[in-house]
Amino acid sequence: MAVGVFDSGLGGLTVLDALTKRLPDVPFVYFGDNAHAPYGVRTADDIFNLTCAATERLWAEGCDLVILACNTASAAALKRMQETWVPADKRVLGVFVPLIEALTERQWGDNSPPREVAVKHVALFATPATVASRAFQRELAFRAIGVDVEAQPCGGVVDAIEQGDEILAEALVRSHVEALKRRMPTPEAAILGCTHYPLMEKVFQDALGARVKVYSQANLVAESLADYLQRRPQFAGLGTQSKFLTTGDPAYVSNKATQFLRRKITFEAV
Ligand code: DGL
Repeated sequence: MAVGVFDSGLGGLTVLDALTKRLPDVPFVYFGDNAHAPYGVRTADDIFNLTCAATERLWAEGCDLVILACNTASAAALKRMQETWVPADKRVLGVFVPLIEALTERQWGDNSPPREVAVKHVALFATPATVASRAFQRELAFRAIGVDVEAQPCGGVVDAIEQGDEILAEALVRSHVEALKRRMPTPEAAILGCTHYPLMEKVFQDALGARVKVYSQANLVAESLADYLQRRPQFAGLGTQSKFLTTGDPAYVSNKATQFLRRKITFEAV
C-alpha cells in the first residue's frame, strides 16, 4: 500500500514528516510541483489543472488515496475535484478539514448541524489564493456558528522560505501578524494555513503572544490519515515504494529539501 502526498513545492514535506512518524509502515510517494510553484499567486483554474495532473501521476504510482498537503490546492481546487473529477475508486483529501475538526472539537464524520464553539475570534494566515477562495470560512461554517475569522494573505513568506532567507521571512511574518492585529487585536486562536508556515511557528507565536493558541496542521493531518486508513483500508493503494517526485530539477530540489528537513532527501524527475 502507498499513499500519495502532493504539494506545490517543498512545504508539504512538513506534512510528510509528520505522516511518516505517525505511520512508519506506510510507503509515501511525494510529488512536488516545483516547476510551477508557488501556487499562492495563481488563478483557481490554473491550480485545479495543475493539481489534477499531479494527482493522476500519483494514481499511476499505485496511490489510490492522495493527500493534498497544500492549503492552496485544498482551498482552490479540492471541492471542484471531488465534485467533478475524482472517480469512485479513488480518494483525494485536503488539509483543511482535520484542522477545522480540531478547532471545533469535532470527530471525523460528525455531520450534525453547526454549533457554538469555545473559540470566537480566529486569525487565519495563508497564501493570497487560499484567502481569496474563502474555503476555510466555508468549511468552518458547516461546523460552527458565531466564529469571526480574520484572514491575512501573507505575500512573500513562501518565497522567502524557499530561498532560505530566514531574516526576510521573519520580518514578513511579523509585519503580517501586525497587520492582522490591527483588524483583530485579540484572536484566541491562529491557524497557520500554509505548509511552509510551521517552519516559522516560533515567530508567529512570539508575534501573536503566548495567549494565542497556534494551530499547525502536520500532526493533525497525520492523526486524521491514520484514522481514515483504519476505517477505509481499501484506499491504501498497491504501491510499495516510498519516493520523491518533482517537476523541477531533481538535483536542485533534493538539495533544497535536504536543507529544509535537515535530512537527506533524493528527488527524481516525474
Ligand atoms: N504549499 C502551499 C500551501 O500550503 C504554499 C506554497 C505555494 O504558494 O505554492 O498553501
